Amino acid sequence: MPGDKSISHRALILSAMTVGETRITGLLEGEDVINTAKVMRALGAAVERTGEGAWSVKGVGVAGFAQPEGPLDFGNSGTGCRLVMGAVAGCPVTAKFDGDASLRKRPMQRVLDPLTRIGARVIGVAEGGRLPLTLQGARDPIPIEYEPPVASAQLKSAVLLAGLAAPGETIVIEKEATRDHTEKMLTHFGAQVRVEACGEHGRKITLTGRPELSPAPLQVPADPSSAAFPLAAALIVPGSDIVIDGVMMNPLRTGLFLTLREMGASIETLSAKNDGGEEVADLRVKSSALRGVEVPAVRAPSMIDEYPILAVLAAFAEGTTRMRGLSELRVKESDRLAATAAMLRVNGVAAEIEGDDLIVHGKGRVPGGGTVATHMDHRLAMSALVMGLASEKPVAVDDAAFIATSFPGFADLMRGIGAELS
Ligand code: S3P
Repeated sequence: MPGDKSISHRALILSAMTVGETRITGLLEGEDVINTAKVMRALGAAVERTGEGAWSVKGVGVAGFAQPEGPLDFGNSGTGCRLVMGAVAGCPVTAKFDGDASLRKRPMQRVLDPLTRIGARVIGVAEGGRLPLTLQGARDPIPIEYEPPVASAQLKSAVLLAGLAAPGETIVIEKEATRDHTEKMLTHFGAQVRVEACGEHGRKITLTGRPELSPAPLQVPADPSSAAFPLAAALIVPGSDIVIDGVMMNPLRTGLFLTLREMGASIETLSAKNDGGEEVADLRVKSSALRGVEVPAVRAPSMIDEYPILAVLAAFAEGTTRMRGLSELRVKESDRLAATAAMLRVNGVAAEIEGDDLIVHGKGRVPGGGTVATHMDHRLAMSALVMGLASEKPVAVDDAAFIATSFPGFADLMRGIGAELS
């Protein structure tokens, strides 16, 4: 499995904010992460590929970024873009942020709001708080206490990265806990981060500003969001029995596995260990008869990227699956709520959207035969292709190119376990 995308972005950005050299292994070499590597170079860090998945980053220290010469291009990546906005907001540099047509549609105002409170200035921005935009970092950043209005690890991380350069304590209070890779990696590099439970599902994160971040080796574990695709294929293709090695099992990322077990999936944890601060496990997956379930809204942050593939599995299940509280899917690489429903319908599956819920009526079989519009969204493309492995007629996608943003070896890996892709 390829390295985790969230951790790979953070590995490059945070190591670029240390003083000294960090060696990273297992880095995801997908287009999104490569764009972040280029951006770190443009901001003055020395970033070099030394082998397959092996990278060396010589950092410039907290608030040490250099003035970039041209615009920073994040391609398709919301994570790269929003995290670097945070990192730049605490530095006295001015940078233009841009991306592809998908990224230019995504909301950035949610990040700009707290960053301007910290002291950054938005010099120019496209209508509706979209890219391209130019951000002038704060000369004297101010530590803030911030409650994100939506559950978003990108937003939380942007504030924490800006807070690194502010004196005193930057506090983020999340109503619902989101992936905590930034907090963990900051601690790994020597920052003081305190995490406390807050309410039933939330957390309070307190970062002490102006640390000297010290380099430390990083091993990126396998991405559970990528593992979801071969895992799903094994569940729906009769007679399958596969083992997926070394999948990261951070509890803030494993909502899909929990849901699938509730649906009757055979997913066995063969070995579990702690590797580089994250739990990882080998998973044995066998084809299974699935049943529809109700997925509570509170679980969404721990499986936010997995709804398209879960919707495919729900179509192969018997009975109705209702996935609640999916408003954030509307602002992913595409409007994933609408696009996922459309993907199913064009392949003969009954699906509807009610408010922020997606409802899939599973019949244990999928007619297939449709061509799925993927809207520059890698996860829709991979979900549709996996659906085609077990549908009655093959499934086509209009564009498979964006798969390379997160899972460049997808086609080879799937062929290796028996998929026919052409
Ligand atoms: C990510 C956070 C999530 C997720 C994205 C990666 C991250 O986005 O969808 O793929 O690495 O922080 P939001 O923060 O917008 O929920």
